[in-house]
Amino acid sequence: KLADLRGMKAGTLKLAVVTTSKYFIPHLLGPFCKRHPNVDIQFKVGNRQQIIDRLYEGSDDFYVFSHPPADSRFETLDFLPNPLVAISASKHRLSRKKNINLTELFAEKLLMREAGSGTRYAIEEFLKGEKVQLRSNMTIESNEAIKHAVMSELGVSILSAHTLAFGGKSGLAVLNVKQLPIETNWYFVWLKDKPQSLIAETFFNYVESEGRSNLLIELKRLGFS
Ligand code: PGA
Repeated sequence: KLADLRGMKAGTLKLAVVTTSKYFIPHLLGPFCKRHPNVDIQFKVGNRQQIIDRLYEGSDDFYVFSHPPADSRFETLDFLPNPLVAISASKHRLSRKKNINLTELFAEKLLMREAGSGTRYAIEEFLKGEKVQLRSNMTIESNEAIKHAVMSELGVSILSAHTLAFGGKSGLAVLNVKQLPIETNWYFVWLKDKPQSLIAETFFNYVESEGRSNLLIELKRLGFS
């Protein structure tokens, strides 16, 4: 407690986040660690299924998902919007079109994340409500690899806008598709019954009181709103 009063909190903050949120979570950690230089960070990144498995093991302080499992043992904080947008190469003909419809979009080859990915899950859920047939798709296990494949005109894709905001979008265009974006949200998730460490509590307070609004300002600056 004495160390705490002096602002010298020490210990490890353990986070496990889905691959798509790795773009913005570090932007929360930067200012937090500057304020608490003795805090170590353990930052695990995986796809949705891998992070769900870790959540059930329960060894981390916080988990970040856009589609957390519904289970009364978990507490969630709705943190930030996570729109999923369609992208093509910037020189692709669809990049100059307005009001593209899904049939037109899916006439292109769709580059999809792997089974177990939350992005893929959101697209599959969305497609259940739309009467369109995918012409073909290709599975690629990483957002960066998908972005590069799209840049080199292998096809189009639907990804979280966060992969573009902090991850950069040179060589890519966000397509103006009538039915998109798919609106999802980011959630912080933690175990109700697990006592939080002082570090975890301090981080959570930071996220709620300043972290989230600073991140929103930064996203706005990057042209993401
Ligand atoms: P993903 O997760 O990186 O597994 O696609 C994103 C999400 O949970 O929406």
